[in-house]
Amino acid sequence: RVIRIIGVPIDLGADRRGVDMGPSAMRYAGLNAELLRLGWKVEDLGNLEVPIPETREINNKLLKYLEEIAKVNEQLHLKVAEVIKEGGVPLILGGDHSLGIGSLAGLALSGRRFGLIWFDTHGDYNSSVTTNSGNIHGMPLAVANGIGAKELTSIGGEQKKIREENTVIIGARDMDPEEREMLRRSKITVFTMNDIDQRGMKEVVHEAIRRASLETDGIHVSFDLDVIDPLEAPGVGTPVAGGITYREAHLAMELIAETGLLISMDMVEVNPILDYKNKTAELAVGLICSAFGKRIY
Ligand code: ARG
Ligand code: MN
Ligand code: MN
Ligand code: MN
Repeated sequence: RVIRIIGVPIDLGADRRGVDMGPSAMRYAGLNAELLRLGWKVEDLGNLEVPIPETREINNKLLKYLEEIAKVNEQLHLKVAEVIKEGGVPLILGGDHSLGIGSLAGLALSGRRFGLIWFDTHGDYNSSVTTNSGNIHGMPLAVANGIGAKELTSIGGEQKKIREENTVIIGARDMDPEEREMLRRSKITVFTMNDIDQRGMKEVVHEAIRRASLETDGIHVSFDLDVIDPLEAPGVGTPVAGGITYREAHLAMELIAETGLLISMDMVEVNPILDYKNKTAELAVGLICSAFGKRIY
C-alpha cells in the first residue's frame, strides 16, 4: 500500500496566522523518511494551491473566507477520492481544520463506508447560526453532517458525508454553548477529557473503534493537535489547557493501528509560529508513525 501525502497550507479558517506553515513543518520534521522506514511506499503529492488572507477580503463575518475555503475543499475532496479509488491511503497535512470538509467529502465520494474518529479539544460543530468567531475551522464536522452553508455542504454531493452512529469525538473540553446543544441532539458520540480521566484512554479508544467500525469498512482519523496538552504541543492554532498527554496520544494511535482499519488521516492545526523548535510538528510526525504501525518492540 502507498501513503499519498496531500499538503493543505490553509489558515483562512482560523483567526491566528501560522497554521499555513504546518505542512512544511511536518515535512521538515522528517515525515516522509519516517514512513519509508516503517516499510510504507510514500508519495508526496505536494500542496494544494491556497490563497493567503492578505489577498482576500472577508465578505461574511459569520463565514469568513467562505468562497476561498469552499474552493480549496472542492479541490481537496477530488484528490482524496482519487487516492482512495487507486487503493492509496491519503494523509492530509494542515493547515486549519476547515480542510476536514474536503477530506470527509472525498471519502464519501470514494464510496467507502467509513467511521470517523475526531481527536479535538473542540466540537467543530458550529454553523453560521451558532458560531461566535465566524471561523470555518470550527464548523467542519457539522458541514460533513449536512449542517451549514450550502457552498460547503454541497461539496461532493448533497448527501451527509458521515454517519452519526459511526462518528466519535475524543478529547473535547471547549465547546460553544449552542454547538454543544447541537452535538447533544445528534447521535455523534463525544468523549470529553472527563471520560478520558475516568475511564482511561485505552477504554475510550476501544469504544470509539467499536462504534466507528460498526457496519463500515474502514476508519478515518482526523487529528487536531490542539487535543494534546499545550505543555507538550504548544504550536497549535487554538491552545486550551488540560489536554491529553503525549503518551495517551501515542497509545490512541497504536490502538487504532492495531485494528488495521485506518484508511486515511488528517493531521491539522500545527502552528510553527507558536511552536518551540518544531516540537509540535515532530510530535505530529511521531503520532502519524504510530497510527501507521510504528512499534517500540
Ligand atoms: N469553537 C470555536 C469556534 O468555533 C473554536 C474552534 C476551534 N477549531 C479548531 N479546529 N481548532 O471558533
Ligand atoms: Mn478542530
Ligand atoms: Mn481544535
Ligand atoms: Mn467561538
